[in-house]
Amino acid sequence: MTDATTAEGASASTVDPTAMRQAMGRFATGVAVVTTRHDGHPHGMTVNSMTSVSLDPPLLLVCLTTGARTTEAVVGAGRFVVNVLAARQGQIALRFARRGEEHFAGLDADQADNRHDLPVVPGALVHADCTVDQVLTAGDHLVVFGRVDALCRSDATPLAFHGGRFADLRPHGAEHDLWFA
Ligand SMILES: Cc1cc2nc3c(=O)[nH]c(=O)nc-3n(C[C@H](O)[C@H](O)[C@H](O)COP(=O)(O)O)c2cc1C
Repeated sequence: MTDATTAEGASASTVDPTAMRQAMGRFATGVAVVTTRHDGHPHGMTVNSMTSVSLDPPLLLVCLTTGARTTEAVVGAGRFVVNVLAARQGQIALRFARRGEEHFAGLDADQADNRHDLPVVPGALVHADCTVDQVLTAGDHLVVFGRVDALCRSDATPLAFHGGRFADLRPHGAEHDLWFA
């Protein structure tokens, strides 16, 4: 492994953040909102870093920027919900990506179907209720592993994100079998 750190602790990488963001943006993803409640206040932020990690035990991860209100709330609460957004929820993704915004204003986010009594995004494709399993510091983000305690899902078209834009995912035709059912 190469050591990319100078003696002063500054990064010696020649890859600047914009180049990194633009290149990684070529990797198409879904879009989710991480929600939690901490000290009586609801918090939420849009993420596309969500990854399924393990089936047994059921684990996922999200990479949350250090210092964001939601990051601190997730770590403080020790639990969170991953809300996978549907194609028609682009405005929800933007709402939860704006700093300083009253993210939950006008949203019926306190649904009783949530086993942990955390706020959720109504109409999301998946609600994955998680307990924080471990937290790793990685550069300017925290990698938060969540153990999935409960799941509910529906089958509408997901919201996608590619090249800095939201997109719809259309099925690729019927030439391939489902990878899994
Ligand atoms: C499509 C999209 C994906 C994003 N993915 C992430 C992510 O994976 N991790 C992250 O820390 N911020 C991500 N962001 C930025 C956060 O949503 C944004 O900084 C948010 O306002 C921070 O939450 P706060 O209001 O609690 O500080 C993303 C934004 C967008 C629009």
